Amino acid sequence: MTKYVIHGGRPLFGEIDISGAKNAAVAIIPAALLVDGVCRIENIPQISDVTLILNILQDLGADVRTVNRTTVDIDCSHIRNARVPEELARKIRASYYLIGALLGRFGSAEVPPPGGCDFGGRPIDQHIKGFVAMGADVDVQGGYIHARARAGRMQGTQVYLDIVSVGATMNIMLSAVLAQGMTVIENAAKEPHVVDLANFLNSMGADIMGAGTDVIKIRGVARLSGGSYSIIPDQIEAGTYMAAVAAAGGEVLVKNVIPKHLECITAKLLEMGVAVEERDDAVLVCRTGNLTRTNVKTLPYPGFPTDMQPQIAAILCLAEGTSVLTEGVWDNRYRYVDEFRRMGAQIQVDGKIAVIEGVEKLTGARIRACDLRAGAAMVIAGLAAQGTTEISNIYHIERGYEDIVRKLSGVGADIRVVVTPDAGKQAQVG
Ligand code: EPU
Repeated sequence: MTKYVIHGGRPLFGEIDISGAKNAAVAIIPAALLVDGVCRIENIPQISDVTLILNILQDLGADVRTVNRTTVDIDCSHIRNARVPEELARKIRASYYLIGALLGRFGSAEVPPPGGCDFGGRPIDQHIKGFVAMGADVDVQGGYIHARARAGRMQGTQVYLDIVSVGATMNIMLSAVLAQGMTVIENAAKEPHVVDLANFLNSMGADIMGAGTDVIKIRGVARLSGGSYSIIPDQIEAGTYMAAVAAAGGEVLVKNVIPKHLECITAKLLEMGVAVEERDDAVLVCRTGNLTRTNVKTLPYPGFPTDMQPQIAAILCLAEGTSVLTEGVWDNRYRYVDEFRRMGAQIQVDGKIAVIEGVEKLTGARIRACDLRAGAAMVIAGLAAQGTTEISNIYHIERGYEDIVRKLSGVGADIRVVVTPDAGKQAQVG
């Protein structure tokens, strides 16, 4: 078993470099399927979700070459296979992007239903609604989603999303870039990674307008050709370290960020008494005094991100007064609350609302990461807590955070990875 052991109560000082955005990378890598030639993708985060999606492309027949730690060359020109392997695809949510990318490239796709964090139901009906409107037949047989463009190629049309969905917006965009005619996505998601995918595709020759607004127009082109592209910094990784400083105290320069993407997070930290100073491509976060209560509701971008909800909860546990947290995106994203209670947090949950009564201190405990962001929030709680916190199931955290232990140790946190191979053998510390 591998776990994180944190001796909490130390303020953080120094600088942290932010990696490329996970949720952009896991869409841009499958988008390479649409490109005729070599795509060089830079600023790729070294996380297990990215390794998985690269392995899936290789399994399909892509030529993937590592250029350096954060850069890969991908050539999908020779792929002839549109069936995605089940074991790999079921481990990751973003495998659904292979449906749009393969449909766009071959006019057909066979992809297992996606995996990912468990927040209650995670339907993909809006993705399918888009593919069907664009002339595809979609059904499920033998544990696979089978999608086939009736005309052999996707047909541009108007798609209105009933719900603002990041995945559906990006998946429909992938299936539309090589389609016949113009596709218009209405009520589209506006997240930074939606814009990043559009910028990547446009840099390879696509014709996409309006990404970042709620109407995206995609004029189908005959071919995309190779080029190079650098992925944006990760908004949520940056927000997580900002939250860590808010909880543990100290002063940290969070570098290689786009401050505009962080404004929704910065606004809440300011309300809580944390100082945040924007620089060109960095934010300086400083917390010396007490934390003040606030209310937070998660919403699609530019609202407060649901992927920062557990991390902000960790800070609110230590803020003076009563805070109300409302989850506006997922049905069940409070599964971590029991673990926080073990540390002395006072939280009541009723459906999508959590009422958090700030306490003077959290105390270290043995806790279990139940998903990616909840795991990151447990690290934050552990950094702020008195005593020792042990977090198990850290593979959830490593799906989305590159080198979290090194980055936090670099600003003075006492956090280590402890590996216990099996009962009876002595623990290794790394
Ligand atoms: N929804 C539907 N039907 C659909 C699609 C979505 O009803 O066809 C609903 C969902 O149930 C949810 C809401 O719409 O209530 C939003 O879901 P969305 O499709 O936007 O989420 P997603 O694409 O599955 C991505 C991120 C998540 C992040 C959400 C919301 C990736 C790989 N995942 O998921 O990130 O929470 O957008 O911003 O991009 C994470 O990084 O930890 C993570 C979970």
